[in-house]
Amino acid sequence: MELFYVSLLCLFILLVSLSFLFLFNNNKNKSTFSGGQLPPGNSGWAVIGESLEFLSTGWKGHPEKFIFDRISKYSSNVFKTHLLGEKTVVFCGASGNKFLFSNENKLVQPWWPSSVDKIFPSSTQTSSKEEAIKMRKMLPNFLKPEALQRYIGIMDHIAQRHFKSWENQEQVIVFPLAKLYTFWLACRLFISVEDPNHVAKLADPFDVLASGLISIPIDLPGTPFNRAIKASNFIRKELVQIIKQRKIDLAEGKVLPNQDILSHMLLTSDENGMFMHELDIADKILGLLIGGHDTASSACAFIVKYLAELPEIYEGVYKEQMEIAKSKVQGELLNWEDIQKMRYSWNVACEVLRLAPPLQGAFREALADFTFNGFSIPKGWKIYWSANSTHRNPEVFPEPLKFDPSRFEGRGPAPYTFVPFGGGPRMCPGKEYARLEILVFMHHLVKRFKWEKIIPDEKIVVNPMPIPAKGLPVKLYPHNKA
Ligand code: HEM
Repeated sequence: MELFYVSLLCLFILLVSLSFLFLFNNNKNKSTFSGGQLPPGNSGWAVIGESLEFLSTGWKGHPEKFIFDRISKYSSNVFKTHLLGEKTVVFCGASGNKFLFSNENKLVQPWWPSSVDKIFPSSTQTSSKEEAIKMRKMLPNFLKPEALQRYIGIMDHIAQRHFKSWENQEQVIVFPLAKLYTFWLACRLFISVEDPNHVAKLADPFDVLASGLISIPIDLPGTPFNRAIKASNFIRKELVQIIKQRKIDLAEGKVLPNQDILSHMLLTSDENGMFMHELDIADKILGLLIGGHDTASSACAFIVKYLAELPEIYEGVYKEQMEIAKSKVQGELLNWEDIQKMRYSWNVACEVLRLAPPLQGAFREALADFTFNGFSIPKGWKIYWSANSTHRNPEVFPEPLKFDPSRFEGRGPAPYTFVPFGGGPRMCPGKEYARLEILVFMHHLVKRFKWEKIIPDEKIVVNPMPIPAKGLPVKLYPHNKA
């Protein structure tokens, strides 16, 4: 709470001192825009615009409120606002998603709030946009289906070890455990770190980093942003040590070249035959660990929440997973065929991702003046697409708040209406990896336990991922003691 007031005070100081800058920027933008009708909307306060409201509806657990209030106020699926220091237009719904995802690198390009660039200062001084392009070229090798199939056994093995910490407990707090699970997997599969103590040493700074990512970029002692920068520096140093040791191990033939993504990065050269620098690799691994574990752990925690609230859905998942479990001989690990049989469980996971998308949306930047739905969008303005605005639209998903996995049967939702992983060329490259880790988690969870929420109406906080405010404490009922 204290931190919250410190942040507010900092914000006030920033507001006054940057007003001049705002006036300057405002005039600059006005002079470069060629005309046309801007979308309806409000720029909010000077400098901070509507950022506080945008962030605080998330802190209160209703990030969609910021969007839906404005859709109804302006009777428009496109509205202008001012977020994180930038003039922004919010595109809501499937047609906006389609437009943005199909105009990637033509009319729009990726954009991150300045907080992200400062927390991830690239060693090669390129922007996070260029880094993302490099990453996208490299990831398919690591995340391609043949490689993914190899990981299922490893995921199963780590899950078995992880769930030992749930056993013999009457109660557990789910969210931190889900994070430990996805983080342990990422550490094992990306950098071959699997000693639980080493994993734990890296885990705390990652939490600090994640909460500072989409924050107000005030770099003063105690702000989430300042703590995130420090955490990022700490993790990068740790990663560089791991990279140095790996180079030695590779040279001495102690590890396999295809052992994990780290070896792959060390041994792959670019089109000019150049290998990546250690710091550059550390940056990329850092990005992957961040992108890859917080999102999936939020999804896992919400699966536990919904299965506790909906016994008939739990029964369906339990039945499917037990059929798979019973078909295995003692000690046999899960494989690709088993995953393909988890159809109902994945429909349940998708319904969870619809109602509680780990990423609320993402930003783009307009590369040129263009028109959408009759409104002019000036070059340089930022555009935000939001998952909730389609996921909770009753015209697309009737009774949107009802949990109904059958929405994903057959051909499933129409294109661009279900976007937890984004869409188009920048759709999440970790989608399949995430599907595997979530299904392996569900398998081990329902095979061992039934559970009950300890706080029936636990609040949800979105900062920036949705999480139950108290971490989702549950009482466990192991099947073998029933
Ligand atoms: C449930 C889990 C996950 C969700 C909901 C999720 C969601 C997303 C979304 C919505 C985007 C697109 C953002 C945009 O449009 O700008 C994205 C991008 C990305 N995701 Fe995921 N993700 C998940 C898991 C993962 C995993 C496991 C990895 C890594 C193995 C990963 C790596 C990435 C990367 C590197 C990008 C950036 C791609 C680019 O900029 O081209 N994600 N993710």
